[in-house]
Amino acid sequence: MSNTSIDIDSFVGALSLEEKASLGSGAAFWVTKQTAGLPAAVMEDGPHGVRHQSGDVDHMGIAPSDPATCFPPATALAQTWDPELIERVGEALGTEARSCGTDVLLGPGVNIKRDPRCGRNFEYFSEDPLLSGRMGAAWVRGLQRRGAGASVKHFAANNQEYERMRSSSDIDERPLREIYLRSFEHVVREARPWTVMAAYNRLNGVPATENHWLLTEVLRNEWGFDGLVVSDWGAVGDRIRAVRGGLDLQMPGGDAASDQEVVDAVRRGELAESVVTERARRAVQLALRADEARCAHPDVAFDVDRHHRLAREVAGRAIVLLQNDGDVLPLSADGGSIAVIGPFAVEPRIQGGGSSRVVPTRVDVAVDEMRAIAGPTAVTATDGYRHDGGDAERLRAEAARCAVAADVAIVFLGFTAREEAEGTDRTDIDLPAHQLELLDAVTAVQPRTVAVLVHGGVVRLHEVGARVPALLDGSLLGQAGGGAIADVLFGRVNPSGRLAETVPLRLEDAPSFPTYPGDQLRVRYGEGIFVGYRGYDRMKRDVAFPFGHGLSYTSFEYRDLQVSAAPDGIDVTVTVANTGPRDGREVVQIYLAKDGGVQRPPVELKAFRSVRLAPGESAAVQLSISRDDIAYWDISLHRWVVEGGAYTVHAGASSRDLRLTKEIEVDADAVRRPFTENSTVGELLTHPVAARVIAEAVRLGTGQTRSTASKELGIDAEKSGLHIPVGRVRSLSGGASLPKADLTRLLEAVNAELDS
Ligand code: BGC
Repeated sequence: MSNTSIDIDSFVGALSLEEKASLGSGAAFWVTKQTAGLPAAVMEDGPHGVRHQSGDVDHMGIAPSDPATCFPPATALAQTWDPELIERVGEALGTEARSCGTDVLLGPGVNIKRDPRCGRNFEYFSEDPLLSGRMGAAWVRGLQRRGAGASVKHFAANNQEYERMRSSSDIDERPLREIYLRSFEHVVREARPWTVMAAYNRLNGVPATENHWLLTEVLRNEWGFDGLVVSDWGAVGDRIRAVRGGLDLQMPGGDAASDQEVVDAVRRGELAESVVTERARRAVQLALRADEARCAHPDVAFDVDRHHRLAREVAGRAIVLLQNDGDVLPLSADGGSIAVIGPFAVEPRIQGGGSSRVVPTRVDVAVDEMRAIAGPTAVTATDGYRHDGGDAERLRAEAARCAVAADVAIVFLGFTAREEAEGTDRTDIDLPAHQLELLDAVTAVQPRTVAVLVHGGVVRLHEVGARVPALLDGSLLGQAGGGAIADVLFGRVNPSGRLAETVPLRLEDAPSFPTYPGDQLRVRYGEGIFVGYRGYDRMKRDVAFPFGHGLSYTSFEYRDLQVSAAPDGIDVTVTVANTGPRDGREVVQIYLAKDGGVQRPPVELKAFRSVRLAPGESAAVQLSISRDDIAYWDISLHRWVVEGGAYTVHAGASSRDLRLTKEIEVDADAVRRPFTENSTVGELLTHPVAARVIAEAVRLGTGQTRSTASKELGIDAEKSGLHIPVGRVRSLSGGASLPKADLTRLLEAVNAELDS
């Protein structure tokens, strides 16, 4: 029976201090506490499958878990650029979670991929906050619709694994708001997750789990988060400071001593009991939500085959065709013999290592799936290399023999789970030398060679792309990835995936390169807002493949871009036509730019939509850019502000393939910036009210020109006089100008007049 009729306030009000404190930590590794008849909630990983452990427990992905569908990890999900599809994945995950009694699935991870080396980039969506936020929100909506709660993680600025438990992400206010918090903000506001997980790292010196500004002022007070804040597993260093900061639940459980610390702190008067009550309230609310969901979704079972088919559909949609010179792809199912080379073709790598590791219900093997399409005799498979690089010469020679005898070679390259796992970062993004040597041996004898890439983080591709005509980016595709790769190779699925992260020419080109992974446990995010493509574009750096890039077996034309001002932003319509021979899907991307005013990246993604078109078909694709997404974070007002003026709207197929452009005027937000002694003379003089008062104050009649006023103030306007803060004028003029007290009065009068 559900406990929904319970009134939380009176329930919590009846609890003793000890009971309230004890609700703030877990009972066991994955379970919260039961109190006064309230059932506990089960919280488990996540995110791309349910890691339900009915035996031994761990958060490293070592102990076994019950089989569950291993969907593509976030890195691949993002490449679909399709929130509706991701919502369906969320629903399937919710059903699986409910089927094994998991109340909260620990995901999604919406941290920004700041640096290509972060070992956990496979668990995150993108380098772009809009794309990450949209994908994360869709995932949460789907999951929670099926009766399991989400835990949006890792809040916040957990962008590297190196020293993740000790290092501080030191980020200026504007990039913090516009880049690193933005995806979380979107998910919290739009999808109302049950929980948010506070990260291991520090933010600007303060541990995330103890960070009052982050957990209380921003998350709760500004964004209106109404769920529970749980710590990452083992992320709490100081329980009292964490409780004070806004942490509701410390996980994992089993630490009764720290509950007692909370009680003692209240008794000593160091912690207000009302704070502990509020935290307990959140724990009770979570337990009730879980209970309600359990009752609303009883006896859930999931259809293993159906979920596997969904995993294959999503994986197919996530694959990015990076390059296809001479239309080597798609292969024809009755078009001759195929040499498949590389261990990943027979032993698929489906996910990354660490806490997210799911035991799949089954695994599609690429070479088997290719045989299923092309026939058993058309496909010959050989290793080509071993992951440890051993026996290289013999394996290479064998691969070359195989390739020369075939009509086309498909070479699987990439990284192993050991190289890309939670807890460690990579030191480079280069494929092992023996893989490139293999590619040389194969391409020397077989010009029709396709490279299929298997990887969680970005790979240096320049050298690979220069060797082969066709490149297929398989990233990490989950348990059905082998089937999806075969689908795309043979054109059963026309690729429509788009990169969610830039592939640089060299690691050293990455905007974060100089400051990653920090020094003396402090990581200065020195590139500011210029993260990912925002930075490569700003520095005018060539890249191997830009953000948003991806090809198709058909072609698309863009025409008739229309933009119009809407009450809440900008409405955009663009017509896209399929001008090629096949059904296909195009991801229309809308980027915004503005000259002048605050510093900005050359372009920023503001909207996207994917559209499926038959050959010869065209559609008017409608998108909208909300005012919230036009705004920048103003560091003097500490709020979002829309700058007025002319904006450029670009419609394109990637961040560097902008096909159509239109200008539009956007009204400014009404913003009041009080004048201070630090306002310049120029700023005061350009403002009609302020200029008049200034002029009066220097005993000029109204209507004086700006230059006369400047002269009177003893400043040569033609030089830099107008840039002088008004508070410095007196000392610059040798005491001839307004005394300080008069200036203060004057500014007050100006501000009062502006207010009126
Ligand atoms: C990870 C989290 C995970 C938790 C529980 C931590 O090490 O950072 O993402 O949800 O363990 O396994």
